[in-house]
Amino acid sequence: MTRPYGDPVRVAVIGGGAIGASVVAALREGRLPGVVPVAVVDGRSVGDLGVPQLRLEAALDQADVVVECAGQSVIAQSAADILNRGIDLLISSVGALADPEVAAAVRAAGPGRFVLTAGAIGGLDILSSAAAQGPMTRVEVTTTKLPATLVQPWMDDADAERLRATTAPVEVFHGNAREATRMFPRSLNVAATLGWVVGDFDKVDVRLIADPAADLTCHHVRAEGEAGRYSFEIRNLPSAENPRTSGVVPHAVLRSLAALVGRPTGVV
Ligand SMILES: NC(=O)c1ccc[n+]([C@@H]2O[C@H](COP(=O)([O-])OP(=O)(O)OC[C@H]3O[C@@H](n4cnc5c(N)ncnc54)[C@H](O)[C@@H]3O)[C@@H](O)[C@H]2O)c1
Repeated sequence: MTRPYGDPVRVAVIGGGAIGASVVAALREGRLPGVVPVAVVDGRSVGDLGVPQLRLEAALDQADVVVECAGQSVIAQSAADILNRGIDLLISSVGALADPEVAAAVRAAGPGRFVLTAGAIGGLDILSSAAAQGPMTRVEVTTTKLPATLVQPWMDDADAERLRATTAPVEVFHGNAREATRMFPRSLNVAATLGWVVGDFDKVDVRLIADPAADLTCHHVRAEGEAGRYSFEIRNLPSAENPRTSGVVPHAVLRSLAALVGRPTGVV
């Protein structure tokens, strides 16, 4: 959206958890000059993050940009409305876009612009370029995480306990990125981001491994297409605040925010 040159960019953060609290703290410390946090929105009381906690409507009245780091439901319920108000939106819960109706609504909305953060992985720039040259013929990701972080509400007690207690690596999911993000909404945003980048959520073959020895969360990506062959492995330390999330993600969000507000730093 247009704002007078030199005016601060006002940011509302939805989700004051592991990612959101770090993003607010970094913005308050001046990480992005000229970008100021004005509100945090959360379904629970998040305590004192140094900015007012407001309801969504009140926060939108004050914001030029919304940073979502809450969950898929926020994108499904509010993304189009935010964009239609002319507010730009940075999406962390990329898995929401695996639902074709949500993706269509987000794409159709505006004049606000939306971008997705690369979040926990890298290499998306080259995969995006490769997919533009010609369709990818193979895209695979194997994600390995600590078992307790993969327990889901739909698991029965016995399955959840078996998962928590596993002493060896065990495959808990194999399927495409669309199913992956539905079944593990907070754990497989990376799979969804790959799906978005290559333009086909169903093409991304996802394996999720629970490994009690996984001190680092690992994403091993392999892709192939007309443009070439790619293989890379990312190993991130889990966030101390939320072991489902990698500690690097708030910094990825801040990088994406810098690009969205027109103040990119370095490689884009
Ligand atoms: N793109 C990536 O690589 C990546 C990586 C990790 C997490 N994520 C996404 O970011 C989200 C946040 O991660 P986190 O580690 O900060 O989680 P968290 O659980 O620590 O914090 C999430 C916060 O959002 C709030 N919240 C949830 N639903 C809400 C709603 N509908 N309205 C308002 N507030 C709501 C919660 O109360 C909580 O305070 C995850 O759910 C996930 O979808 C993306």
